[in-house]
Amino acid sequence: MLNKDRMPIHVAVIMDGNGRWAKKKNLPRLAGHNAGMKAMKKIVDHSDKLGIKYLTVYAFSTENWKRSIVEVSGIFKLLVTYVNSDLHGLVDNNVRVKVFGDYSQLPKDAVKSLEETLEATRDNTGLQFNIALNYGGRDEIKKAVVKLAEKVRTGELEPDEITEEAIDRELYSGAADCRTPDPELIIRTSGELRLSNFLLWQSAYSELVFPDVLWPDFTPGEYEKAIEDYQSRERRFGGR
Ligand code: IPE
Ligand code: IPE
Ligand code: MG
Repeated sequence: MLNKDRMPIHVAVIMDGNGRWAKKKNLPRLAGHNAGMKAMKKIVDHSDKLGIKYLTVYAFSTENWKRSIVEVSGIFKLLVTYVNSDLHGLVDNNVRVKVFGDYSQLPKDAVKSLEETLEATRDNTGLQFNIALNYGGRDEIKKAVVKLAEKVRTGELEPDEITEEAIDRELYSGAADCRTPDPELIIRTSGELRLSNFLLWQSAYSELVFPDVLWPDFTPGEYEKAIEDYQSRERRFGGR
């Protein structure tokens, strides 16, 4: 049973296993990504129902450009379809959508749909749904270092003012309009036991849960099990 008093505020999810799901069914990889979008939609709705305040999903990494053009452009087409078809639902459910990552590099129609969604949901006050797109933890930290270096160069900041909080503020998660606390829980599906460049800074003390299901098979029930697993952990943060 879920303990309502120990709900995580921020859950982050590495949605992995779409390709293997499709392969198992003798379907093209894009059929896996399509099924993955449907699973994601259910998890967004369920996060809202559970009263989770922030959900961050890893949808496309800075390394995923290495895949075939067919797969990459197909993923973005699906994203446009999802965003457009679900916009009303997101608005009705008071969900605020944000993007972590440099989405300006995505195809034009994807950028347009995303910007419409960001704008339409901007003032919503319910679940904040962060979509990590063209996101990499190292890229995020590198961009923060460049911004801080620039501030030191112009005299806006002294080197000894580069605190952890100052770094935080330069990350996607620290931007004034989408500030997101560190995730208490990171879930990665598909059985892979790694972070693959996801939220490297923010995951310092996150609890990691690795459900042994492929992402398209990840249901709200699996989600609750992962949260229960998190709730059974003793968090120490280096203390005793
Ligand atoms: C995750 O599923 C989705 C993206 C990375 C876009 P994969 O496509 O990585 O699926 P597997 O790991 O090949 O099964
Ligand atoms: C991580 O999965 C990225 C996303 C889920 C978007 P990958 O499938 O790209 O990671 P690796 O290659 O298995 O590490
Ligand atoms: Mg994968």
